[in-house]
Amino acid sequence: MMVGIFDSGVGGLSVYREIRKLLPGEDFTYFSDNAHCPYGDKSREYVVDRAFRITGLLLEKGADIVVVACNTATAAAISALRESYSDNTKEEVRARVLKESGGRRDHIEFIGMEPAVKPAIGMTHTGVVGVLATAGTLRAEKYRHTKELAYGKVKVVEHIGEGFVELVEKGETEGPHAENVVRSSLQPLLDSGADTIVLGCTHYPFLMDTIRKIAGPGVTVIDPAPAIARHLVEVMERDGLLPDGTNGKASARKGQTLLLSSGDDSVLKNMASAII
Ligand code: DGL
Repeated sequence: MMVGIFDSGVGGLSVYREIRKLLPGEDFTYFSDNAHCPYGDKSREYVVDRAFRITGLLLEKGADIVVVACNTATAAAISALRESYSDNTKEEVRARVLKESGGRRDHIEFIGMEPAVKPAIGMTHTGVVGVLATAGTLRAEKYRHTKELAYGKVKVVEHIGEGFVELVEKGETEGPHAENVVRSSLQPLLDSGADTIVLGCTHYPFLMDTIRKIAGPGVTVIDPAPAIARHLVEVMERDGLLPDGTNGKASARKGQTLLLSSGDDSVLKNMASAII
């Protein structure tokens, strides 16, 4: 089986890293759309268009399931993607997927990202949860629904991680400049009393050490990637995409990873080889 994964850049590698721990025997195609990065300040229509083009490409490459390893693309496009690709009781869906996958599949499931507000509600002691995400994620209707979970329980404060994606795309995740950039967006959340910080963009876990250094030991920082990886395994098991014996550590086979990008691929290759 092959798992297709995409993001606007290298951020989705933070999700790939966790998935690979659970599924070392599976094959992956990772697409970094860095020629169109960042997605965070683009229109919803733009991001939806990119998500559909990349999904088509991943199916052509042989993907059996797609991980939208990007909060911004999930918020903008996952409903439309599921509508077009996931329900095989609809004739037009079956026809589209059979065509795009070269007859291999009649539907495709999508695993998306969501800011981990729910687990954060149970973790905060101050009653204030801070969410760092892109502008696109924070203004999306999907995020408003997620935030409703906190109503009457805890206060949720947000900040755009200004400049975070650019740092990670340059591979600059530590040092005085990275610390200044991170501090500008994180400090307002800490000043509001947040003791639990949700990373609502898949690029941000690569800044984890810098974020922890600024936040200090009393603050919990949540990266949702391990939970997303577990969810992917559940869906693949349910859909028969992990035949017995090939799941995770039981497999003797070492999976292959194909790395693709729409722009310069040097940072992608460096970061991926550090993971692989
Ligand atoms: N990594 C992405 C996310 O999770 C996209 C960041 C961006 O391109 O702005 O939101």
